[in-house]
Amino acid sequence: LNFSVTRERRYILEVLFNGLRRLEYRGYDSAGISIDSSFDSSNADAVVVPPPLVFRQEGNIESLVKSVYQEVAATDLNLEESFSIHAGIAHTRWATHGEPSPRNSHPQTSDASNEFLVVHNGVITNYEVLKQTLIRHGFTFQSETDTEVIPKLAKFVFDNANEEGDKSVTFSQVVLEVMRHLEGAYALIFKSRHYPNELIACKRGSPLVLGVKELTEESSKASFNDPKFLLSNGQPKELFLSSDPSALVEHTKRVLVIEDGEVVHLKDGGASIFKFDNAKGKPNGALTRPASVQRALSVLEMEVEQINKGKYEHYMQKEIHEQPQSLTTTMRGRLIRGGSCKAKSVLLGGLKDHLKTIRRSRRIVFIGCGTSYNAALAARPILEELSGIPVTMEIASDLLDRQGPIYREDTTVFVSQSGETADTLLALEYALENGALCVGITNTVGSAIARNTHCGVHINAGCEIGVASTKAYTSQIVVMAMLALAIGDDTISSQTRREAIIDGLFDLPGKVKEVLKLDEEMKDLAKLLIAEQSLLVFGRGYNYATALEGALKVKEVSLMHSEGILAGEMKHGPLALVDETLPIVVIATRDACFSKQQSVIQQLHARKGRLIVMCTKGDAESVCVGGSCRVIEVPQVEDCLQPVINIVPLQLLAYHLTVLRGYNVDQPRNLAKSVTTQ
Ligand code: G6P
Repeated sequence: LNFSVTRERRYILEVLFNGLRRLEYRGYDSAGISIDSSFDSSNADAVVVPPPLVFRQEGNIESLVKSVYQEVAATDLNLEESFSIHAGIAHTRWATHGEPSPRNSHPQTSDASNEFLVVHNGVITNYEVLKQTLIRHGFTFQSETDTEVIPKLAKFVFDNANEEGDKSVTFSQVVLEVMRHLEGAYALIFKSRHYPNELIACKRGSPLVLGVKELTEESSKASFNDPKFLLSNGQPKELFLSSDPSALVEHTKRVLVIEDGEVVHLKDGGASIFKFDNAKGKPNGALTRPASVQRALSVLEMEVEQINKGKYEHYMQKEIHEQPQSLTTTMRGRLIRGGSCKAKSVLLGGLKDHLKTIRRSRRIVFIGCGTSYNAALAARPILEELSGIPVTMEIASDLLDRQGPIYREDTTVFVSQSGETADTLLALEYALENGALCVGITNTVGSAIARNTHCGVHINAGCEIGVASTKAYTSQIVVMAMLALAIGDDTISSQTRREAIIDGLFDLPGKVKEVLKLDEEMKDLAKLLIAEQSLLVFGRGYNYATALEGALKVKEVSLMHSEGILAGEMKHGPLALVDETLPIVVIATRDACFSKQQSVIQQLHARKGRLIVMCTKGDAESVCVGGSCRVIEVPQVEDCLQPVINIVPLQLLAYHLTVLRGYNVDQPRNLAKSVTTQ
C-alpha cells in the first residue's frame, strides 16, 4: 500500500489500532475509528473546523486497519499537516442491536458532517422512546443500533442551546444533559466537530478507565518527534480512555478507574472529572453546571508480558500452560504452613472482618455465569462439608428471571473473572437490595463486582485474554476451597481434613505441571475426534462441574456439540443416546463416587458405548474391565481439589480440537470475553 500519512498521523492511528487489538477479545465482529481531518487548532484564523474522519468496517480489527490505510491511500485526503493536540476514538464491537456491518459499527454519528460521534459499550434500554422523539424532531436514523440515539441526542441538545442563545455551552454540559435521558448500561466516549481536541467520556454500569502518560523528553522523542506536541503546561502528555486497562498498559500504568455517574473531560492535554447528578436536573431550563471531583491516580498491577502470547500460538494455549504459575500466585501469602504450636490455616485478608457473619448465615448462595458458575459448582461440596451451611447455586440470569428469594441472613458469593458481567452485576444489585451479605470473587481489581460487594477475594490469576476461560477457572476453585477452609477454621473436628487440603494446595501447582504433560496425548485424542458431531462428558460429585466445564470448553471453541452430564442421571435419559459411534468421556478418578462411576462404565460398556475414561494414575486396568476404552490417566490429589487437575486434559482437548478443525481459538464464533450487556 502506498500510505500517504505523516508520521504523526500514523502514530495516532497505530495507538488507536493497537488499543483495539488489545480489546479485540471483548468483541470482534466489526470495528471503527474516528480521527481529525487536518486542522491546526493553534491557528486562530482557522474558523471552520472540517468534520472528523470516520472509518467503519465489518470483520476484525485487521480488516479495519487495511481499509483505513487503503482509503487514505486512495482518496485525496490532506493528511500531511501536523497536530498540536489530537483526540481520536475507536471501537471494536460485539453486536447486540443490529447485525455486524459498517453502518451498525461505532463510532455512531449525529449527522452526515459528524457533529457528534460516540463509541459505546453497553445497552441503552430506552433507545426506542428516544429514537421516536428524535424522529419527531426531524432526525433520520441510519443504523439499527441503540447507540445511534446518543450522538443525535447530543446534537439536539447542542442545537437547542444555541437556538436559545447559549453559544457558550460546553461539551461537558451537552453530555451531562444527554446522560439525563439515557437508561441502561453504558461507557461512552464522545467526540465532536464543535469541540476539536476534546473528548468526553462517561459511564454507568459498564467499565471505564483513564490512563495518564506524562512523556519524558526521551519518550516524547520516541513517539512524537514534534515540539508542537508539547502541551500548554509545557508537559507533553498522552491521555487514554478504555473499557479495559489491558489497552493502556503498554503506554502507562497510572490509571483512574472511573466511577458510575462520573464524566471525564479531556481538553488541552488535561483531564477534569465531574459528577453527574440526575437529581439536580435543569434549573430554569439552563444546562447543568457540573461539580468537579478530585481523584487520585492508582498504579496498574499488570505487565505488558502478561498480555502478550509469548512463545505460544494462542492465548488459550498460553493460559492453559501457565496454570502452575497462576495457581501459585492465587495462593501466595494466603496459606499458613503452621508449625509446632500453630495449625495450618488460610488467610484471606479481604474476608477477615466478615467471617463471623458468614459463619452465622442461614445459607450460602453462589451466583455466576458460564465458567465462573461451573467453578462455584466444583467448590460447592467442600464448602458444604467444611461450613455445614447449605449452599445453593444460582445462574445469575435465572435468579433475576425468577426474582428468587434472597434474605438478609444469606451470604451471596458473586463469582466472575471479569467482575463486569452484566447478569452477575444485576444479581448483585438485587442481593444488595435484599440485604444479603455480598462477597465478590473476581480476577479484576477495581471491577464493578470488586467495588460493589461488601468484601471479597481476588483470584490473582493474571490477565486472561482467551475468550474461553481456563486459568481463571482453576484459580476460582482454589479460592473457593480456601474460602471453605477459612469458614470452617473454627471447627476442631475437621482440623485433620483441613490440614490435608492445605497440604494438597501446596502440592497443586506441581501436580498441574504433571498433568500438562498430557498435551501430546490430548492432541492425538483430538485427531481421533476431529470429525465427530458430538461428545458427552459424564461426571458426578466433585467432578460434575468438570463434566459441565469440559463440555463447555469443547463446544465454545471447537464448535462441536458437547454436553456435560451428571452420571447419576444417566438412566433418566442420556442412556438413550449411547451407541457404538458417540464418543463419551467418563470421569472416574478416585473419590467417594469411584465405585458408582465404575458401575456407570459397566453399563455404558453393556450398550457398546465408545468410552474415553479419565482415571487416577495406575487405575487404567481396573476402570476398563468388561470392554475396551481409551484412558486418560491423571495424578491424584485431595478429592476436593481433583477438579483442578481433571479439567486440564479437557482444556487441552478443546484447544487441540479447535486448532485441528481450523477455528479461531481465542475468538470463538459469536462469543465475547466479558458480556457487559444483558
Ligand atoms: C462469557 C465468557 C466466559 C465466562 C462468562 C462469565 O460467557 O465467554 O468465559 O465464563 O462470560 O464471565 P465472568 O467474567 O463473569 O466470569
